[in-house]
Parts: sequence; C-alpha cells; structure tokens
Amino acid sequence: MKKLLVTGAIIASSIFSVGAMAQMSDEDAAAAVKRRQSVFQMLSFANGPLGQMARGGDFDAEAASLAADRVAMLAPMIPDLFAMADTRSNSVTTRAADTIWDSQADFAQLAQDLVDGAMAAKEILASQGAAGVREAVGQIGPKCGACHDRFRLD
Ligand code: HEC
Repeated sequence: MKKLLVTGAIIASSIFSVGAMAQMSDEDAAAAVKRRQSVFQMLSFANGPLGQMARGGDFDAEAASLAADRVAMLAPMIPDLFAMADTRSNSVTTRAADTIWDSQADFAQLAQDLVDGAMAAKEILASQGAAGVREAVGQIGPKCGACHDRFRLD
C-alpha cells in the first residue's frame, strides 16, 4: 500500500513537471497572443476619452473618471496573461520581448505602476475637474510608455 502511494506520488509529480515544461501548441500560443493584445486594445480604448479631453475635447467628468477606472481594472490582467502563457518558443507574431518571462517581477511592477497612475489620475480629476485633465493623463500615458520602452519590440 505504502509502495503504491509512493509510486503514485512519483507518477503524479512527473506528470506535473512534464505539464509545466510541456510546450504549448502554436495554436494555443496564437490564442494567448490574441488575448493579451485584446487587453492592450481595450486599454487603448478605455484611455481614449481622456486623451481626447487632454487634446482640447469637451470635458466630461463622468467619462474621464470612468476612463481611469477602466484602465485600473484592465492593467492587472497584463502580468497574469503573460505569466499564464510563455510563448517564447512558439512560432507566433508578437511584439512582446522574450525578456518579459525572465523579468516577471519588473513586468508586474510596471503594470502596477499603471494601476497606481490611473488611481492618481482619478483623484486629480475628482479634485481639479477639467483643470486637472492634462495632469491626469500625465499619470497614465507615461506608464504605458515605460513598459513599451522596455518590453515591447518595435
Ligand atoms: C507592463 C507592460 C505594459 C504596459 C503597462 C502597457 N503595455 Fe501596451 N504592450 C505591452 C506589450 C509587451 C505589448 C506587445 C504584445 C504582443 O504583441 O504580444 C503591448 C502592445 C500594445 C498595443 C498593441 C496591441 C496589438 O493589437 O498588437 C497597444 C495598442 C498597447 N500596448 C497600448 C497600451 C496602452 C494604451 C497602455 C497604457 C494605458 C499600455 N499599452 C500599457 C506592454 C505593456
């Protein structure tokens, strides 16, 4: 019985370690790339109204605050999606740098910086209204750029 349990544990652990090392199919990897790129598209869409207001568009307090909320809600998905699918050894079309998976803590911190920036933007908008739009955008845009500079290929 004891021997059976030990054998079972060995088999289970080798299944898990093989599972962890197993390479994703290119099909699964392509789906993962699509999924993370969709989150970036959504981030861009969410942040859009704030950008427009900063460029002189009409100020809408509710839309501005909603934009910041949406960015703060989406950003934590970035590190999760990359941690869940290491696509480095797959044949996929991506602008993600391979170094993301060797620097996951830094990558997650850059996403957290974006969350913090969006929360700060929300506070600025609440206290300053239209007068704070540029400052609010300044809390968000550079956080996108900081991660792109380091982890997004040209
Ligand atoms: C923590 C890192 C990080 C942050 C923060 C970040 N990005 Fe990105 N972004 C990336 C990476 C990496 C890619 C490349 C993804 C790929 O091609 O697989 C990317 C790709 C994109 C794309 C192209 C998506 C596509 O369809 O190919 C857009 C648009 C984008 N980001 C917008 C933004 C905006 C707007 C923000 C801020 C509100 C932002 N990103 C914040 C890392 C980041």
